[in-house]
Amino acid sequence: MTVASAPGKVILFGEHAVVYGRPAIAVPVTQVQATVEVQEEGRGIRVVAQDLDEVYQVERLPPSHPFRLIVTKTLKRLEIEELPDLTISIRSSIPMARGLGSGAAVSAAMVQALTSHLGGELTLEEISALVYEADVFYHGTPSGIDNTVIVYQKPVYFVKGHEPYTFAVKRPFWLAIADSGVVSPTRIAVGDVRLAWQRDKGRYERLFDAIGTIADQARWAIEEGELEQLGLLMDENQRLLRQIDVSSPELEALIVAARRAGAKGAKLSGAGRGGNMIAIVEEETKGAVVDALKQAGAVAVIVTQVR
Ligand code: PMV
Repeated sequence: MTVASAPGKVILFGEHAVVYGRPAIAVPVTQVQATVEVQEEGRGIRVVAQDLDEVYQVERLPPSHPFRLIVTKTLKRLEIEELPDLTISIRSSIPMARGLGSGAAVSAAMVQALTSHLGGELTLEEISALVYEADVFYHGTPSGIDNTVIVYQKPVYFVKGHEPYTFAVKRPFWLAIADSGVVSPTRIAVGDVRLAWQRDKGRYERLFDAIGTIADQARWAIEEGELEQLGLLMDENQRLLRQIDVSSPELEALIVAARRAGAKGAKLSGAGRGGNMIAIVEEETKGAVVDALKQAGAVAVIVTQVR
């Protein structure tokens, strides 16, 4: 039996603008994990999704299904022509469709578990590329940030089409990640932003430029340990996300609550319209911020340290 795990992720800065070539920053969230076990059992390849109580026979899934895609592409990359008999069991504590990268984490753990089980070797770059291909199913036109941060398992400064840049955090800091409880599929939010961009490219390009500048400044602030500045940059990024119309009343209520309870900065994270918000908190303020977020309607709050 072979086991592999991959963490969740959150985007700190630059969502949406990253789809249009601007930089973004994302970090792994190790408090939540997808774990995959591979063993020689059964006929053909079976995928058991433990949390969903579902069993899939890979050969019978439609060719574009992410489980089938990831299995067949991994086998091809490993130059294995004949389907082995395997059972792939998946368990995940990453909430689904909440911007925490659950799909990419499951794919990453699957590629890694399959590769080591079958005695192959793939570079992180190769694994990340395979995970990206499966992410197309969930996201439509993913920027590639999810697969990168989840496979490299480090804070990443990401620009589409460029080598990912992983960087060091000078002063570790705490993040509260609060789930608004509103399900918001990424591909819908991304599609709406694309329609708005098509209608008024000049305005949207300027907004994306401003978001890109914030992501650059945020990388500097993280590398230099300037946490006050980082908080202000989050607020500023949120102001721009509101202008591209991806915030929501639920997210705004959480953001106000976090700031009032002492967070240094707060914004939505990921596709928006629902899903998660994040706030920079300190050792002394994190308890109060978590309480305030729950009172303001958060259905779940994760506190993670970025290091
Ligand atoms: O909600 P998430 O974490 O899947 O993030 C979506 C981030 C976008 O920038 C809106 C899309 C993308 O592919 O980067």
